[in-house]
Amino acid sequence: MNIPFSFGKIVREDDFTDRAQETAKLLCNVRSLTNTAIISPRRWGKSSLVSKVLDMLSDDSEYLVVRMNVFKCEDQQEFYTLFAKSIMEQVSTSVESLVLNAKEFLSNLLPKVSFSDPLSRYEIAFGFDVKSNPISEDILDLPQKIACRKRKKMVICIDEFQQIGEFANSSKFQKILRNHWQEQQDVAYVLYGSKKHMMLNIFGEYKSPFYKFGDIMFLPKISNDDWKSYISSRFRDTGKSISPEVAGYIAQLVDNHPYYVQQLAQLSWLRCEKDCSAETVDGALENLLDSLNLQFINIMDSLTEKQRNFLCALSDGVTQLTSEKTLSTYSLGTNGNVRIIRNALLKRDIVDMEGRTVYIQDPVFKLWIVRQYSIL
Ligand SMILES: Nc1ncnc2c1ncn2[C@@H]1O[C@H](COP(=O)(O)OP(=O)(O)OP(=O)(O)O)[C@@H](O)[C@H]1O
Ligand SMILES: [Mg+2]
Repeated sequence: MNIPFSFGKIVREDDFTDRAQETAKLLCNVRSLTNTAIISPRRWGKSSLVSKVLDMLSDDSEYLVVRMNVFKCEDQQEFYTLFAKSIMEQVSTSVESLVLNAKEFLSNLLPKVSFSDPLSRYEIAFGFDVKSNPISEDILDLPQKIACRKRKKMVICIDEFQQIGEFANSSKFQKILRNHWQEQQDVAYVLYGSKKHMMLNIFGEYKSPFYKFGDIMFLPKISNDDWKSYISSRFRDTGKSISPEVAGYIAQLVDNHPYYVQQLAQLSWLRCEKDCSAETVDGALENLLDSLNLQFINIMDSLTEKQRNFLCALSDGVTQLTSEKTLSTYSLGTNGNVRIIRNALLKRDIVDMEGRTVYIQDPVFKLWIVRQYSIL
């Protein structure tokens, strides 16, 4: 029997639930060639949403779609290399067309291009050292050139885009990207990444080159009702049962966080013979907490004592973080200290803010802190 529920990878088809509105919105954006940045806390489903929309677009011959993940790029030359490589490989349907495309579009930009065809997966390689022979920024115009020549529209999706914030002279590089990309009439960019704080710096700061580059989609969570019906149907399809209440309980325990809902649902499914009860779910949650123990200890070890105290206050449900009582109960120091602590934790994406309310991003980390540290 196939084990239902999937976490840690991009989810598709039966594993993908809801997101009807966001799917329609992103599809509409790419069809109208509106640039889009997608922002959410970690593991809420950005990459899966983009994949779903691109799968929907794949039958439409009007569009050329390119995806890349720039997580490993350390500087702008590595970015240019991956950018050119991904575009050339993904718009070419065979080795022959890759050779022709490279001749046509890269010959003035890159002097040495070679091809390999290991096990029929064709790949392109640039046979020169980018340090002594840097790639020019004109490579950024490649999508528009290809779109124009092939009379198509092009959609370029870049995952882990916040990585460009780590490059030396990042602000200058961001200006270069924006200058080239904003001129491109037949190309849409979909930019997303797992570090919310850095993505907000790139797209939300007035002074940033990417300010108002396009639409910003703040991905919401999937609702408890949607999880209820999704979890119930996955149990039913695999010959087990769960009541809507217990299905909703699974999602509610992990605050409807997509990754953890899938993980806790799977652990619960594995623990039950036939019918899944709330006790089974409680047992599964203990399993989950145990499996993350080391990871959470490491995070706590990397924090200052006051930062740890601040997280304890949050996980105890304290909202008046700067009241006299909170400052003394949790040894947080002064009001000013609290702001510094909060900003440091925001920067590390450990806490997040909704309006003026601060909360711990990872709902299971919060549960773990309550068990290990609560002073209430
Ligand atoms: N629409 C969905 N339906 C069901 N499960 C989902 C959905 N979206 C995400 N998930 C769950 O969340 C997990 C993380 O999804 P995904 O990798 O797409 O998120 P992400 O926001 O790109 O993560 P990161 O911030 O780490 O880049 C998936 O493996 C899956 O378990
Ligand atoms: Mg992702």
